[in-house]
Order: sequence, then structure tokens, then C-alpha cells
Amino acid sequence: MSGSGFGYGKLILCGEHAVVYGHPAIAFAVDLRTEVTLTPCPGPTSVWARPDDSRLLEAVKTLLGEEGHEVRIVSSLPLGRGMGSSAALGVALVRAAADLAGEDLDPDSTYRRAMPCERIFHGNPSGLDVAVSIRGGCIHFTRGEPPSLLPLRPGPWRVVVLDTEEVGDTAALVASVAAGRPGVDPTLHAIGALVGRCVDSLGDARRLGPLLTENHLLLAALGVSTSHLDDLVRLALEAGALGAKLSGAGGGGVAFALADSDRTTEQIREAAVQRGVPHHVCRPVGSRGAP
Ligand code: PMV
Repeated sequence: MSGSGFGYGKLILCGEHAVVYGHPAIAFAVDLRTEVTLTPCPGPTSVWARPDDSRLLEAVKTLLGEEGHEVRIVSSLPLGRGMGSSAALGVALVRAAADLAGEDLDPDSTYRRAMPCERIFHGNPSGLDVAVSIRGGCIHFTRGEPPSLLPLRPGPWRVVVLDTEEVGDTAALVASVAAGRPGVDPTLHAIGALVGRCVDSLGDARRLGPLLTENHLLLAALGVSTSHLDDLVRLALEAGALGAKLSGAGGGGVAFALADSDRTTEQIREAAVQRGVPHHVCRPVGSRGAP
């Protein structure tokens, strides 16, 4: 007998960092995910994981206890790149445990149970990654207990994810923004205001694109971008992207570029290939409450 579960990976369309301080944000699930299989077994809990991360065992033990499980984790998400790998792990673990217990878990209970795992990795997470990892689709999120969630309907755009192959330390970056307050508060406020404009432009990539680039510039002003991320944003815009930004905490990780046609997507992909940048084309996947 075993139990299984999965969590979606995500990109943040607009609003990272500001969301930690109660401003809204928009995120969407992507077609990369983490899958967990749990098998009861006597003795200490053991973990087999691809790819592996030293904090996995702590996360697993926090959620499942020290004894009694063999845990198999397989993820197509790159770790520490702003694509929500830790949230997807927590969600997949919680779902696998519920599956093993024969429990039908609703999204709110999944959220409450997965957040302790996210705190191991991030210290003070807003909960955005966990919410989108559970629900899929594209969501408008505001931090709270419980958070406020609104499913959104994105237009027919897609994104090209561009990977720096560098790991960003989310907890350290969130702490560095916290240390900059109240000086950085106007920038956080400007990011929050941009989210409202993105909601209104979600169906029109030509209006949405420049807002994403503006979000990137505000994140750079916060000090969480890197020259490598700025370079990938420039590469995307020069290749014809409608907008581009880093996603997640920054300090490495990924940027993504917005495209509204096969032609633009291909141009961005081609520019990435020429510069040897690992990339991935995706669209929002899943929907609210999807298993
Ligand atoms: O780097 P990621 O994928 O963990 O995203 C972090 C997003 C932040 O807004 C910076 C932090 C948070 O908890 O929302």
C-alpha cells in the first residue's frame, strides 16, 4: 500500500516581495511539478529524491514525523530558482499523506498543512507559492490567515523561462528587503499598484508586457536582481518579447519573457539557444481546486 500526491511549480507574474507585506500578487502554475510517493515502513523515515537537497529530510520529518515512511520524491522543477520547488514539495507530501490515510483533503486544509514545510525553506513565506501549487491556474493572492484568493483568466499568451542556473536564497533575499524598510516601502507600494494594472491587462499581452518589465525594474531597485537576470531580461526584449522580468525572490533563479505568438516565442527561444541559456516554454496550467 502507498499514497501519492503532487504539487505544481509556479511563476510569479507580478508582485513578489511586496506580497510578503500584504500587497497583492499574481502567480500561475506551470507544467513542471513535484511528485511524492509514500510507503509505510518500520523504522526511521527515509527519503529518496531526484534532484536531492539537504533540507528535504527535515521538511519530510516536519510533516510526517521521524518514523514510519519511505518517501520517494521526483521533481521536474529546478531547485532554488524561483519556481516554487519547496512549495510543490510540501503540497505533494501533504497530499501523499492524505492519500495514504484515505483522507479527502480540501485546498484550505492542504494549505494549512503545507505551510510549515515552506517555513523550513523560507522563514517568512507569504503563502503565495503554496496557494498556487495547490490550486493551479492563475491566481490573485493577498496574504492573510486565511489568504484571499481569486482565480484569474489569463489571455492566450505564453512565456519563455530563461534559467540563470544560479540558486537564489529566498530567505536571505526576503530578509535583505526587510532590512531596507521603511526606505523601500514606496517601491513595495509601487509593485503592489502594478498588480492591479496587470489584472486589468491579463487578456492583452501587448498591455501586460510593459507592466512586467516595469515590475522587473522595481525589483532591481529593491536590490534583488543580478546582472545575469538583467542581462536575460535585455536578451528577451531585444529578441522581441512583449515584456520580461525575474520571477521569485531573485538573486539568481529564472527570468521569463512574455510572448503572444509562435513567431515571437521562436525568436526568444532562438536568442536563448545562441547564448546557451537553458529555457522552457510554458503557459498557465491546471485550474482552481484541481487535484
Ligand atoms: O523564490 P520563490 O519561488 O520562493 O518565491 C519567493 C517569493 C517572495 O515573494 C519573494 C517571497 C514570498 O514568500 O512570497
